[in-house]
Amino acid sequence: MSESAVSVYEAIRRRRDVRAEFSGEIVPDETLMRILDAAHRAPSVGNTQPWDFVVVRNPETLDTFAAHVAEARLNFAQSLPEDRRSTFDPIKIEGIAESGTGIVVTYDPSRGGPNILGRHTVDDTGLFSAVLAIQNLWLAAVAEEIGIGWVSFYDEKYLTELMRIPSPVRPIAWLCVGKVTEFQQVPDLERFGWRQRRPLADAVHYETY
Ligand SMILES: Cc1cc2nc3c(=O)[nH]c(=O)nc-3n(C[C@H](O)[C@H](O)[C@H](O)COP(=O)(O)O)c2cc1C
Repeated sequence: MSESAVSVYEAIRRRRDVRAEFSGEIVPDETLMRILDAAHRAPSVGNTQPWDFVVVRNPETLDTFAAHVAEARLNFAQSLPEDRRSTFDPIKIEGIAESGTGIVVTYDPSRGGPNILGRHTVDDTGLFSAVLAIQNLWLAAVAEEIGIGWVSFYDEKYLTELMRIPSPVRPIAWLCVGKVTEFQQVPDLERFGWRQRRPLADAVHYETY
């Protein structure tokens, strides 16, 4: 990471979900470890750090998973009404093979045992913690000029078996990680007319919802 790494606000502003802009150049191991270190510093309920990271680089595994995702994409496309289907058709939803590296993020609900400080009332806080690790990873990647693409078009059982993840651990994300030619300024789903972002003013409420 350079001395002049971007500010956190700049990283948040520049972050994009990357699908089509992977250059094919593999993320160097040192960079990858810095990004994973950022993920591993995320806050977690009861300090449980319920995440793990499976780094996947075997081209055969990448291709196998990409084929599974292509099938899931087709199923989704077929479920859409005609007008939405034609909007969806040109949208790329993954860069699994092109990125050259996948990180499967997992969540272990049993980490920390039965008495987790802070999770006794809201069980989801364990999952929230693992997602915060992903957001740390994503922003650190921007600072490193590395693109991340989150892929969720998969059957959870399929990915569990492909990664040989033991019960009760769950895969919660496949992240495509790689060098990019550029970061788009506007999210793909906006550029392709799928869905616009909403103004902040619509999301902020005062006193009650
Ligand atoms: C939980 C989650 C799952 C996602 N799954 C996919 C996916 O399967 N394929 C994809 O292309 N983008 C996926 N995305 C990326 C979103 O489409 C993207 O974040 C959103 O359109 C906003 O664009 P931006 O991230 O570039 O700001 C996912 C994002 C999240 C947070």
